[in-house]
Amino acid sequence: MQGIKPASHPYLLELVTMSLANKNILLGISGGIAAYKSAELVRELVRDNASVRVVMTRSAKEFITPLTFQALSGNPVLTDEFEQSESANGMDHIAMARWADAILIAPASANTIAKLTHGGADDLLSTTCLASKAPIALAPAMNQAMWANSATQDNVEILSKRGLLFFGPAAGSQACGDVGEGRMFEPHQLLLSLSNLFNTGELTGINVMVTAGPTREPIDPVRYISNHSSGRMGYAIAEAAHDAGANVQLISGPVSLAAPEDIEYISVSTAQEMFDAVQADIETQQIFISCAAVADYRPVAKQPEKIKKLHDGLTVEMVRNPDIIAEVAKLKSKPFVVGFAAETRELKKYALQKLERKRLDMIAGNDVSDTNIGFDSPENALEVFWAGGHCSLERDTKTKIARRLIGLIAERYANTDKRSNVTVLKNAKDRSQNTR
Ligand code: PMT
Repeated sequence: MQGIKPASHPYLLELVTMSLANKNILLGISGGIAAYKSAELVRELVRDNASVRVVMTRSAKEFITPLTFQALSGNPVLTDEFEQSESANGMDHIAMARWADAILIAPASANTIAKLTHGGADDLLSTTCLASKAPIALAPAMNQAMWANSATQDNVEILSKRGLLFFGPAAGSQACGDVGEGRMFEPHQLLLSLSNLFNTGELTGINVMVTAGPTREPIDPVRYISNHSSGRMGYAIAEAAHDAGANVQLISGPVSLAAPEDIEYISVSTAQEMFDAVQADIETQQIFISCAAVADYRPVAKQPEKIKKLHDGLTVEMVRNPDIIAEVAKLKSKPFVVGFAAETRELKKYALQKLERKRLDMIAGNDVSDTNIGFDSPENALEVFWAGGHCSLERDTKTKIARRLIGLIAERYANTDKRSNVTVLKNAKDRSQNTR
């Protein structure tokens, strides 16, 4: 991961802004007058649709109250006093450590930096950092002499070598009257730096089409056949692909999720509409990920009027819908095709059968027999197969599962022959203007 050097940050301007929508950001606040700037940061994060949880050290509360962060983040603030009271906060520090997609400590005091360097775990913030596998970034804020002190500089070096990132500090006039390096980055700089943590660059410039959500097959003007897909998995995949630098086109069945920002979005309802939308642009795509729960059958005809309850029983005659992914995989010059297999039993057997029968490059087997994962749940677990390979993505949030799946896809895609006819890389922004 590319860090930002503590003492030089002019190339911040070169960074590309990524959305933090749906990212779980754990904001640690340690003691320092700059804590007031973190209130603005929380506001900006929430505005960017990130989920924000705040952990405050004891000394942070001398500068600003937990209530401020609770009001701005919309979540209870974790403090050492509440450590024993999970119910008061809705999450303990281990759950919080797992929940976080990234941890940012802003302001990071000299004391907090020293504590992290030595693996200290005597308060909630340091314990949470120790327990988390998420990337950790620090926004130092302290007097310029404290920052310049070799004790602090040595700590910064050790933490940087361990992969922790430093956003700032900036130089300028300080609250104590000194002038020099040690000012905390401004909220907009922190937001930019944080968002770039998610820019993996694995699919830079690659065109990726994702289908998501259910389809609805109308019976009459008021009834339809559908399934429990919420669209969450597919949307998370689209966002992860976008974070990886891809030009993403998301074709979505009817869901209650907001259309992701900076992603070309096409809304459809029936399987036939999804098929048509896919076919319309598949020739320009390098990767196709079919996460949608497409109805296999539709009523032969939609009745023009609402069907009346005239009989004890009702039979609706159905016909097969087009198999969207199979048609994509049949293309002469096909993209890298990734399918899903939602199964309630014999996951591996059926996933492998679909991989072969539909001539896919990769398949993500999704056990949907457990009602707590898969359909309409914030979490999932996948068994991913490809010719000669397999990887288990163990239970996690759909955001994290999506990121790992995109990592796998990028790795496999890099090892395959690329389709030859994709020469036109459309500009995602231009395209999204046309379809939003
Ligand atoms: O939306 P969520 O609530 O987050 O739930 C996510 C999910 C469970 C829907 C998702 O992870 C998932 O498993 N999606 C695939 C569901 C499915 O329809 O599986 P299937 O085994 O019936 O289909 C196999 C593959 O063929 C899938 O890639 C599917 O998109 C595709 N297909 C199926 C039928 C059809 N007519 N056309 C298709 O392209």
